[in-house]
Amino acid sequence: MNSISSSMELLLDAGVKREIPVPILTPRLELRPFQDWDTDSIAALLADREVTKYIGDVRSREDAATSVKVMRKAFLERGWGTLAVTLRGEANAIGYCGVRPLPHTAELEIAFALQRDCWNLGYATEAAYASVDVAFSTLGIDSIVATVYPQNQPSLRVLEKLRMKLDSKVFGHWPMSAALLFRVQHDDWRKRP
Ligand SMILES: CC(C)(COP(=O)(O)OP(=O)(O)OC[C@H]1O[C@@H](n2cnc3c(N)ncnc32)[C@H](O)[C@@H]1OP(=O)(O)O)[C@@H](O)C(=O)NCCC(=O)NCCS
Repeated sequence: MNSISSSMELLLDAGVKREIPVPILTPRLELRPFQDWDTDSIAALLADREVTKYIGDVRSREDAATSVKVMRKAFLERGWGTLAVTLRGEANAIGYCGVRPLPHTAELEIAFALQRDCWNLGYATEAAYASVDVAFSTLGIDSIVATVYPQNQPSLRVLEKLRMKLDSKVFGHWPMSAALLFRVQHDDWRKRP
């Protein structure tokens, strides 16, 4: 067993619970576990064609409610996962960010999406930076990956700002060409300026 799969197995082992301290606070944002009342925000996010262009197409309110339940349950059971992003001092989620298992692999990926009127203000970078930092310091993992379509310029730029490196091509979860897999190693994260 290589070190990636062994650390993921440990993480997914219910007997070895590792918990991310929440909320995660950044200068402008709060990342907290999802609540049922976040369905309105996530339904609006997932109904926006621009937001969902590279993350699987628009989804119904019912799908959004299921996503919120799944993210909430995953966090409660594991102690880590995708969190609701809010502006500090505000209740409503502007999107999601956090680490989650990358399906069919023994990897943890950083995922993020924000409502459109919050784009290009540095929020995704701020939320993802804090999420990666907390994940490395609490989960005992060797690396974190991100999957992104090559056309998704804003997301590529966020990964560049996080100093994630292109690792390989992977097949996406829905009918499009290959996505790109980026990775940051814990050792390199520790050495960042
Ligand atoms: C990806 C996403 C979360 C980025 O959020 P954000 O808060 O706008 O990100 P940031 O402001 O931290 O950084 C965005 C960067 O992309 C740049 N950018 C935006 N549009 C761009 C474009 N068309 N071409 C190149 N760069 C672009 C911005 O200028 C900024 O870089 P800068 O800080 O050097 O100026 C947001 O666009 C989003 O929710 N997209 C839809 C969901 C999605 O695709 N998620 C990622 C799946 S891999």
